[in-house]
This record gives sequence, structure tokens and C-alpha cells, in this order.
Amino acid sequence: MHSKKTSCWKTTLSLGLLVFLAVSVSARTESTKDKPDKASASAVDNFRLLDHEGKSHELYLQTQAPVVVLVVAGNGCPIVRQSISTLKALRDRFADQKVVFWLLNPNSQDDQASIVEEAREFGIDLPVLMDKTQIVARSLNATRTAEAIAINTKDWKIFYRGAIDDRLGYGTQKVKPPKTFLSDALENFLTAKKVSPSHTPVKGCAISLVSVTPRDGKTISYAKEIAPILQEHCVVCHSHGNIGPFAMPSYEKVKGWSSTIREVLLEQRMPPWHADPHHGAFANDRSLSPEDIQRLLTWIDQGKPRGNGEDPLAAQPPKPAEEWPLGKPDYIVAIPREMDIPATGVFPYRYALVDSPVREDVWLRAAVVKAGNRKVLHHCLVFVKYPKDSEHPQPDNKGGIDGFFTGFVPGMEPVTFPEGTGKFLPKGAKFIFQLHYSATGKQEKDRTEIGLYLCKTKPPMEYQTRAAARTRLDIPPGDPDYEVYGRFTFQRDSLLYEMSPHMHFRGSRVKYEAIYPDGKREVLLAVPHYDFNWQTMYRLAKPKRMPAGTKLICTGAFDNSPQNPANPDPTKLVHFGEQTFDEMFIGYVNYAEIPQTNAAPAPSAANDTTTKQAAK
Ligand code: HEC
Repeated sequence: MHSKKTSCWKTTLSLGLLVFLAVSVSARTESTKDKPDKASASAVDNFRLLDHEGKSHELYLQTQAPVVVLVVAGNGCPIVRQSISTLKALRDRFADQKVVFWLLNPNSQDDQASIVEEAREFGIDLPVLMDKTQIVARSLNATRTAEAIAINTKDWKIFYRGAIDDRLGYGTQKVKPPKTFLSDALENFLTAKKVSPSHTPVKGCAISLVSVTPRDGKTISYAKEIAPILQEHCVVCHSHGNIGPFAMPSYEKVKGWSSTIREVLLEQRMPPWHADPHHGAFANDRSLSPEDIQRLLTWIDQGKPRGNGEDPLAAQPPKPAEEWPLGKPDYIVAIPREMDIPATGVFPYRYALVDSPVREDVWLRAAVVKAGNRKVLHHCLVFVKYPKDSEHPQPDNKGGIDGFFTGFVPGMEPVTFPEGTGKFLPKGAKFIFQLHYSATGKQEKDRTEIGLYLCKTKPPMEYQTRAAARTRLDIPPGDPDYEVYGRFTFQRDSLLYEMSPHMHFRGSRVKYEAIYPDGKREVLLAVPHYDFNWQTMYRLAKPKRMPAGTKLICTGAFDNSPQNPANPDPTKLVHFGEQTFDEMFIGYVNYAEIPQTNAAPAPSAANDTTTKQAAK
């Protein structure tokens, strides 16, 4: 047993050293040790993490529970493994009181696959939150596995931290625990009695908290390491005239915002990118790498040193966005009138209908939205409506399901349609602009436009937008996880380019899965924490071939509970509808059918949007 324990932390250490420099535990931990009976005077920071099954968990949303118990865990730690049955029993015992139990794995060497394997082997059916960047472990000053941290959800303060019980030790084991610390603490807390002891020493495997290696061995260089991260991942929005609420034009500004930056990194709010990194590779991925997150946080913890060298943020300010980065369009279509955006408030989507100025059937090589005012335009989706007499196959336009034409979200680079493709635009079409504005604190105006770029000749493939959607929604009041499915079948061999899920305020998660004709399944995109503010189009790094007959299943869920901070009214039964207080479930796909010389006749009935069973 003792040797096992040693190897457990040795592996942690040596693996950690390969990539990072292992550092000793921070000084703040030592001070908690000095005052053993004071669990923690200050509130625990909010955080969001994915668990080993890809579900998203955010601490501050757990207000339905009186207590959240976090137990620090790590693969291969014998003390954790032997505590699982105790934890499961505690979870069951306090289930009626809705106490939440999470494991927290901060080991940099444990990946999702190995955590899933450990959970399977040791019967762990508690969510294992993956804290690969160790940002949560650091903020909690966690240094050993098997430590339990019990948090009061009223004030987010810790009322007990320490051992689960005193049954397990290094190489020793008592048959019955004489002291059931965690159980007693929960019992006393829930019956409003004094929790004592509120702090006990922990026996578990040491976590090697890792730190990025600063270039000069001492402190991280702002000029060489920090500013480049911000330039690459933040400044596109956080610059003058853009949507970010503050600009990052200098070291001083960043320093001033650093506590909030720490907060948004912990909550995974910034940079806005919501795809689970375990599935798919995307050309427009704007997330930070775990190393960059650690570098930023270590620098903030080190006191945000300015160091030497010119300030890149001040010396190389971002170039002002070009009016039309793809050159002058052949046609420009503007919304009919300037929109007034009040200084404050949350606004329902606005719609504008415009006739297409193009007098004949055309093929487009690009259709680009130009935000009239980048400070306020949070997203713009443009739908197309074909004239009744168009001979070209028409997209189904109910609720915009198949009529998606082009769109804009902040930070998105305008591009042409993929090589060899073009989008068809019939004469007499109409465009419907859906505009989502956010307030800046000042009265603002916007007049957004789209630029249309014609192809010289008919392209070999049609770039099409269709959807796996569901138009029947009856989301019960209060339901925290109302699951729905939509299905789409690729009729011919196709290339898939992009996926864009669309839901409103209550949308909470979505997953695109392909079922290939040979029965193999593959998750193409998972968005475990859907945020309706960011209508992101996920562009595959490489177009993916979808053989004819491939089924695309879109699974998603709505959170109509009061715990969803975006929920306008948890007491309402919610149906399908175009306004944001109604709901939608649309999994858009942009694809092109590959031309075939002797194409077989296409099977019928592509979309199935009606029944839940149909998707199964
Ligand atoms: C695609 C645009 C975009 C990018 C990229 C982006 N931000 Fe933001 N940021 C925003 C917007 C918009 C807000 C306002 C809040 C919101 O809408 O979520 C915001 C808000 C913030 C805030 C204030 C938090 C608050 O209280 O709302 C911080 C801090 C922040 N961003 C930091 C960063 C950092 C650090 C990066 C890069 C690592 C980054 N952002 C990248 C658009 C962006």
C-alpha cells in the first residue's frame, strides 16, 4: 500500500515535469494549515468544467442544492479508489436533500479516455470534473487527492474541508471508520448545528501543481509571452470600435482588468468558444490552449509583472477592419433603415425584410455580412426566401429552418464559399435579416449590409444549407433538461463544411453525431454549454466526407429551470417560435453534394423533424 502511494505521486511528478516545471504548493496553502479550524473565510470562486462524460458543470448554478461537495481525485490513487463506495453511500444518503457530489481531477497527466476507463473499472458513477489546467485546484488551494471540500451554496463559503473519514491511511486501513468527518459535517450543516471540526488533515496522493516554465526561469515575460496570447485570442473583439466591452491597447489596461480576466478564464466565458475540445477540429477555433491559460494565470498570480521589452499591444495596435475584406462586392444589400439601439437593456431579435437587387438567377462565390456598428451587433443571421415560381429546389422556410443564407458573429473572418462550390440565388428572392444587438451604455445606431460576390461561371457543386431540426417543442415549466432530437440524411455523397446549432435562451447543450451507412457512429461536434449569445458557425478544419445515406442526428436539450440565468420565465410551457422567449431547435449544416457521373436515383424523405423516436 505504501509503495503504491509513492508510485502514485511519483508518476504525477515525472509526467508533469515532462511538459511543465513542477512547483511547490503555494504559500496560501501553508497559511490554511496554520489555522486548522478555519475552513475558509472567503467565498470560493465560480468555475465551469466538463466532466468525463462531456457534461458541463458550473458551481454558481447549483442553487437548487444546499451544498456542493467537491472531492479531489486522480487516476491510480488507492485512497481515492477505496473512498468511492463511501462517497456513493453519502450521495445516496443525502439525495433527498439534493446535496451535489462532484469529483475533481486536476492531474495534468490524466486525459478524458483514462478518466473514463478509471470510472468504468472502479464503478465511479459521480461526475469527474476534468481540471486539466488545474485552474480550479489552484483557486481552491487543493494539494492532495481524497480531500473533500463542502461548499454552502448560500454564500459559496467552505464549511468543511479535509478527510472524508479516518478509515484510510498510507498503508493502513481501519475496518469501520471511528470518525466520519464529512458525513458528520453534512449532517450538522443540514440541521443547522455547528460543524466541528471544520478542517481535518488529509491523507491522499499529492497533486503536482504544474507551472509553465518562464523563459528567464523566474517570471513570465509580459512582452514575449502574455501580450502575444492576447493579440491572437482577444484583441479582435477587445479593441476600439469592436464588441468587447473594454479594449486591450496597453499593458496598463490589461493589468487593470486582470482580476476579471482570471474570473472569465475560470468560468470558461472567454474567449467565447463552446465546442468540447475532444470532438472535431475547427478552422475558426478561438479557444486558448491549456498551456496559454496556465501562462496567463501564473502571470496574474505573479503580480502581473511588466518586465522588459516594448509593449506589443501599444506598439502594434490592431489594423482597423477593412470595409470589405474580400474586395468590392457586386451587389450590396442594406437593411432598409438605420436601427436605434438604446443605451441599456436586453433586446429581442429584430427582423428586416429586403428585396434582392439581383434581377436574374445567379451563383455566388461569397455572401458576406458587414456589421454597420461592431460595438453593438452581437450576431446577424440572414435567411433567403425564394419566389414561389422559382424552378430551383426550394429550401423549407418554416421558422428559417432551411433558408439560412449567411451570417455574422464578432471575430468571424469573412471567407468565400469553399473551393468548387457556390450558392444559388434566384431572381426575385427576399432576404430576412435577424439582428441581435447588445447595449453599450450609450445610444448607438446600426445599418448592417451584406455584400454579394458573383461567380464568373456556374460552380461544379452547390453549397447548400439544410438542418437537422425539430419544430415540435413542449418544454415543461421548470424542466432542467428537456432533451430533443432532429435528423437529417445525406442523399448523395457529400462534403460537410460547417455546423451551426441554433436555439434560444433555454438552449443548454447540443451534439451532432453522424451514423455512417456501415453503422459506425462519430460525434462531429459537441457543445456542452450552449450560449445563445454566440451563434457560432463551427467550420471544420478539413471538409468531411459524408457517404450517401449517412444520418446526422442532432441531440440537444433545454434548461427551463430557474437555475438557468438566461431563462426569461421558468414557469412557462415553451413551444417552437421565432422570438427569443419561444424556442427553436435547429442544427444547421453547410455541405455540397459531390457530382457523380452515373448518379443513382435519390431516396425520398430527407428530413425527419417530428418524432423523438424517429431519431433512435
Ligand atoms: C469574439 C469576440 C471576443 C473575443 C475573441 C474575446 N472576448 Fe472577451 N468579451 C466579449 C464580449 C462581447 C464581452 C461582453 C460580455 C459577453 O457578451 O459575454 C466580453 C467580456 C469580457 C470580459 C468582461 C467580463 C464580464 O464581466 O462580462 C473579460 C474580462 C474578457 N472579455 C476577457 C477576454 C479575454 C482575456 C479574451 C482572450 C483570451 C477575450 N475576452 C476574447 C467578446 C470577446
